[in-house]
Amino acid sequence: MPSLQTFIHYSFAIGVVLAVPVVLTLIIQFIVLGTVSHQNACKQKIASSTKPSPNHRTYYAGFFHPYPNAGGGGERVLWTMIKAIQDKYPFIISVIYSGDNINRDTLVRNVKAKFGLNINPDTVYIVDLKWRSWVDHKYPRLTLVMQSIGSLMLAAEAIHQFVPDIFIDTVGYAFTYPLVNLLSSNIPIVAYTHYPTISSDMQTMVSSRESGFNNDPRIAASPTLTNLKSIYYRVLAHAYAFSGSFADMVMTNSSWTYGHIVKLFDLPRMTSVVYPPCDTAALTEFSMNNRQNVIMSLAQFRPEKNHSLQLEAFAKFLKEYPQYKAPGSKAKPATEDILQLLEGSKEVESIDYPLLVMIGGARNIEDEARAESLRQLASSLGVNNQVYVIVNAPWSQVQLWLKHSSVGIHTMRDEHFGINIVEMMAAGLLTIAHDSAGPKLDIISPAIRINENALPSEAQAQAYLKAPEENKDFPVGMVATTTDEFAQMIACSINVKGPVEKALRSAARAAATTKFSEAAFSTAFYRRFNPVVRWLDSQNPDS
Ligand SMILES: *[C@@H]1O[C@H](CO)[C@@H](O)[C@H](O)[C@H]1NC(C)=O
Ligand SMILES: *[C@@H]1O[C@H](CO)[C@@H](O)[C@H](O)[C@H]1NC(C)=O
Repeated sequence: MPSLQTFIHYSFAIGVVLAVPVVLTLIIQFIVLGTVSHQNACKQKIASSTKPSPNHRTYYAGFFHPYPNAGGGGERVLWTMIKAIQDKYPFIISVIYSGDNINRDTLVRNVKAKFGLNINPDTVYIVDLKWRSWVDHKYPRLTLVMQSIGSLMLAAEAIHQFVPDIFIDTVGYAFTYPLVNLLSSNIPIVAYTHYPTISSDMQTMVSSRESGFNNDPRIAASPTLTNLKSIYYRVLAHAYAFSGSFADMVMTNSSWTYGHIVKLFDLPRMTSVVYPPCDTAALTEFSMNNRQNVIMSLAQFRPEKNHSLQLEAFAKFLKEYPQYKAPGSKAKPATEDILQLLEGSKEVESIDYPLLVMIGGARNIEDEARAESLRQLASSLGVNNQVYVIVNAPWSQVQLWLKHSSVGIHTMRDEHFGINIVEMMAAGLLTIAHDSAGPKLDIISPAIRINENALPSEAQAQAYLKAPEENKDFPVGMVATTTDEFAQMIACSINVKGPVEKALRSAARAAATTKFSEAAFSTAFYRRFNPVVRWLDSQNPDS
């Protein structure tokens, strides 16, 4: 029978073991947060240079976004979110942890110029970070681990400079969540994830030893190294999932990302899709009547975009419908002439047979070569007379094509989203995309599919045009998978006329502009953010 003394010894030992994490936490908290007076001074500084609405207790939302001055889709989400917060919660100060070293007024001016958003500087504060190189650095080895550690260091610097009431990660640095939670367990963590840092696709690709993903060919070649790398990814995926589970609210930018994040973070009730705002305002001004006989494609000349599928489908379509072939006697008009025709500045005969115009960026010499080989493929398929490959056209020219083309085509399989498809639909094109991932789940739904639902009837089209709101099941575009299906969809979209054509174009535009608009983004965002604000209110009942 254990004596009282033994019992005391054991209790003491257990106590010591239990105390270790507590003491460690306190040490980390002290190192990162600094003294209470340091934190008060930081808060004082922010309070004195901002003007929140006085009618409610002030809250500070800390946006962990080290590149707020960049002009990408991620920044558009950041600033639209800040704008949404300003509109509905004028008592919340948006504190941006920035490594761009640009002051508030310049930043706000740049946002206006880039995204057309009017941000009120009175409820914005910029905390300048000095340690951004921790995440910028191009680590030659173990990139993901090093960048994740880097993001932790940067988050520590951020929190040291100011402890927010809400932590909002708009970049996807999930590894910072446990740190934030450790520093203060009552800061809600809100995440907007564009892309999972680790996805199950990556793990599969490593184990199947695809050299495109294993950037080091030695690793792809060696089974042992591949196994090690595969273990490395598995460990990392677990760490990522563990970190992500500290989030209180997760928004993803697409169904594809949602699928991965729900599997990893395992927070199905707190996770939802909030589509990013796409800027389609200018495109919706284009008239939908009198479109030229042009099928346009808009995608970088990357292999996965599968441009050759477009050519093969187009060739097949012309073979089945020879009446659409350009007469052999006619010379191929120069791109310049067609552009002048579109601009209306030159009297050129209008285009009386369909053209396939492939427009896209080339990032490097390989992309350029790919564009060139598409021209050769067009020749060998005998359709060169009706095919144009245009590399690195300026946006003004792309807009011209969007304004006058009749049909849009996009052939990449498993595109995560496909903003170009949204743009084509907003411009009023009849759009055909690959029946997978983003186009299928998010964008072209409901869709016309071969063997499933034929073109809508004229009566259905009339009904849609009369009451679009009551005809939500009217198709907004077409999807296809095989060359055959793409060819048939091209035929469908070239042949469709009258009210059916009109209704399809309107439905495409309506879908693109309502589902992916700034207003839709704000509404969806409020639905997720409101509970967070209410929770803060419940913690501060005196306000
Ligand atoms: C989501 O973010 C990823 C990564 O930036 C991007 O490739 C994708 O197009 C985005 N999706 C949407 C709906 O914008
Ligand atoms: C392009 O599409 C064809 C037909 O669907 C398919 O067989 C091929 O694998 C695709 N190529 C790429 C690079 O995706």
